[in-house]
Order: sequence, then structure tokens, then C-alpha cells
Amino acid sequence: MDKIVIEGGTVLKGTVKISGAKNAALPVIAACLLTGGRHQIHNVPHLKDIQTIRLIMSRMGVVFQEDEGVLSVSSDNLREFEASYDLVKTMRASILLIGPLLARLGKAKISMPGGCAIGARPINLHLKALAAMGVDMFLDRGYINAQTDRLKGASIFFDIPTVTGTENIMMAAVKAEGQTILKNSAAEPEIQNLADMLRGMGAHIEGDGTDTIIIDGVDDLRPAQHKIIPDRIEAGTFMIAATMTQGEITIEDCRPDHLPAVIEKLQSVGAGIEMTDNDLFIKGPDTINSVDIKTMPFPGFPTDLQAQFMAMMCIANGSSIIKETIFENRFIHVSELKRMGADISINGNQALVRGKDRLLAAPVMATDLRASASLVLAGLVAEDGRTEVSRIYHLDRGYEALEEKFQALGAMIRREKA
Ligand code: EPU
Repeated sequence: MDKIVIEGGTVLKGTVKISGAKNAALPVIAACLLTGGRHQIHNVPHLKDIQTIRLIMSRMGVVFQEDEGVLSVSSDNLREFEASYDLVKTMRASILLIGPLLARLGKAKISMPGGCAIGARPINLHLKALAAMGVDMFLDRGYINAQTDRLKGASIFFDIPTVTGTENIMMAAVKAEGQTILKNSAAEPEIQNLADMLRGMGAHIEGDGTDTIIIDGVDDLRPAQHKIIPDRIEAGTFMIAATMTQGEITIEDCRPDHLPAVIEKLQSVGAGIEMTDNDLFIKGPDTINSVDIKTMPFPGFPTDLQAQFMAMMCIANGSSIIKETIFENRFIHVSELKRMGADISINGNQALVRGKDRLLAAPVMATDLRASASLVLAGLVAEDGRTEVSRIYHLDRGYEALEEKFQALGAMIRREKA
């Protein structure tokens, strides 16, 4: 298995360009199931999760073509409606296919996603909303079999704001009969990006980016041209890397307005930040101040940057409290960071990080996507040798060309093939 080897201690300097967002691209690709014709999607990142959704949809009869960075998707010959266990188990976001399949074909058979390293991650809210829209469902041998004669608009209240749940129901609702109102919906930028794609297809959607989304169903949709937003989590990861290494980097093709809490926290840590609409310059401080964070739905601090922020707090001046409110088991990186000398104690969903003068290089193991990124960041500042991060297939699910991008900023980082 490949590993990433890092010799820490380099001050990062230069410019990095942010890729399209994985979590925006996945629902947009799923939305191409809603109607035939040739959709054209720009800025799709080259990631394992994108390959996975393409593979699942290819098995359904969808044709993909990539030319000069533009992904063309045609679901004219959509003939299957099944997402099988062998692929869904590698990517839970496959559940995003159920909404558009029901809207287009009135049926879907999707392997029920299990739990994952960061939590149980149920999909009850997706299923409850679909039931309210007139979908009959039963579970058979681990598969959700869903069927409807006609999706009907409904008023849906999500007990918890769910990102993929909101996206799934938006995709189901665009072709439903009548109006669907989603209350306590997620407001993440990825939702707005999907809403833009759906509007480009002729859908009637209002309120995306707030906690109430109103969708008036239409009979016909058309193929769309769409650009994926920059990955705010990738941008945040490079911002933290610059701060940790006392570096100075320019982050191109990012959306600072998608990073309000991260910018505020990094300024409190001591980083100097200047930004325009699409670029950001960040300079790390001489001493990193310790700062508390609490993960929250957008516009709060994203859970997908919690592990990376914690790696930074390991070398901060003082102690910080990190509270994870989204996923119940998202501290799996802690035991690996401790192997590098970090001083962290966990009490329920709260971690107390006592900053140390330094972290020490060590072999560590990636356990999920964002945990892996935090270990790479820790490796960039670790002293006394090489940090080897194994099981990096997790990183390849969500970071495009991570080591090349860090190399271009001067980091001593490379991938070693097994
Ligand atoms: N939840 C339920 N029932 C549901 C759905 C969610 O109880 O039916 C709970 C979850 O267990 C969690 C909370 O609601 O406690 C929020 O989960 P959400 O549904 O928003 O998460 P998700 O849609 O499965 C997306 C991202 C995650 C990101 C979360 C939170 C995609 C493909 N995935 O997951 O991204 O952490 O939102 O922002 O968009 C990652 O990229 O590394 C990643 C894990």
C-alpha cells in the first residue's frame, strides 16, 4: 500500500490552486440522472470518490467523457437503477443517487450504507423525507428498494440539518408534483452549488443557502452547463498548513466567503490574512495562539477541518478545547497525533489539547479522509526524522494531487509506492 513520507521543518512559500470541491461535484454528477441530453460539468476534481460515483452510474448506463477538463455526462440510456454493495461500501455518498433515480424512473435499489470510521451516520432523515413524498420502501438483504408512481411535494422538517439529505430531497423534489418545502435544511455552499446546477436544468428552487428551501416541481428538465465551486476544505487545509509552518502562501481559486469561521479562527490564532473574491494570502505567525473551536453546520466551523485544526493546536502556545458536535466518533486521529508526542485528552465529544513546543516524526496510520490530512500537517512540522503516513487511499478519496501541491510550496513530501 502507498504511503506518504514527510521530512518536516520546511516553511511553506508560494502559490497553490484549489481544485473543485468533492462534496459539490458528487451531488452535481448525481443530478445528471434527472434528465437525458449532454450535461457539461467544469472543474470536477480527479479523486477516487468521483471515480466511484462514475463507476456506479456507468453500470446504470450513463456515459461519461472527459475533454480538456470538462466532464460530459449523458444519461440518455439509463437502464439500471441499482447501486451495489461492492461500491456503496467504499463511498457512503452513493445514497445521493436515490433522489434523482426516483425522480427520473420512479424506482431505485441502493445498498444501505453502513457506519464509517467517524460515526454511525444513519440515513433515516433521507428515507423519512422520501416517504413523505410518496415513496414506498423496504429493506431486503441490505438493499433499500424504493418505488413511487409519482413523487409528491411535501413539507419536510429535518430534525438535524443534513447535507446529503437536503441534496437528495432537492433532487427528488425538482420533478415532484407540486411544492416541496424543506425546513431546517443544510445551508452549506455545496447545497447552493447543487441548486445552481438544478436551476440551470430548469428547476424552480428558492432559499438555498438558508434553512428553508422551496422547490416547485416541473415536468421537464434540460441538460446543463455547470462549474463546480472550489473545495473549501482543501483551501482550509492549506491555510492551516501555512499557519503551522510560519509560511506565506497565496491560495488561488478559492472562495473566502465559504470559509467565514475558518478565517476568523485563523486570525485569532495569529495568522495574517488578505483576500479578494477568489484568492487569499495567508502568513503564519511566529507563535501560534491556542484557540477553542466547536464544529457546527455552515456557517459554523466545519467538522471536515476539525482534525487539521487540532494538529495545529498540538503546537500552539497554551491549551485549547475542541468540541465535535456533528459526528460522534471524529477523534480517531487523536491516538495517531499522540504517537507524534501530542498531549490530548478526550472527554466525550470534547478534546483538550495542551500545546507543546514540538511534534516528533513517527510512522502513523490514516483512518479517514480528514484525519489523514491532519497527520500530513503534523508531519510537515514534526522534528527528528521522517513521518510516514500509511493507508493514504483515504487521502486520495478527497485531496487532488496533495503531495504535488505541497511539494510546489517547498515541503519535503513524497509518495512511496508499495
Ligand atoms: N444524520 C442523521 N440522519 C440522517 C442524516 C444525517 O442522524 O439521515 C446526522 C449525522 O449522523 C450527523 C449529522 O446528521 O450527525 C450531519 O450529517 P450530514 O448528513 O450532514 O452528513 P453527510 O451528508 O453524510 C456531508 C459530507 C461530509 C461532511 C458532512 C458534514 C458529502 C458527500 N459528505 O456528509 O464530508 O463531514 O456533510 O458537513 O457531502 C468528508 O468530505 O470528509 C466528509 C465526511
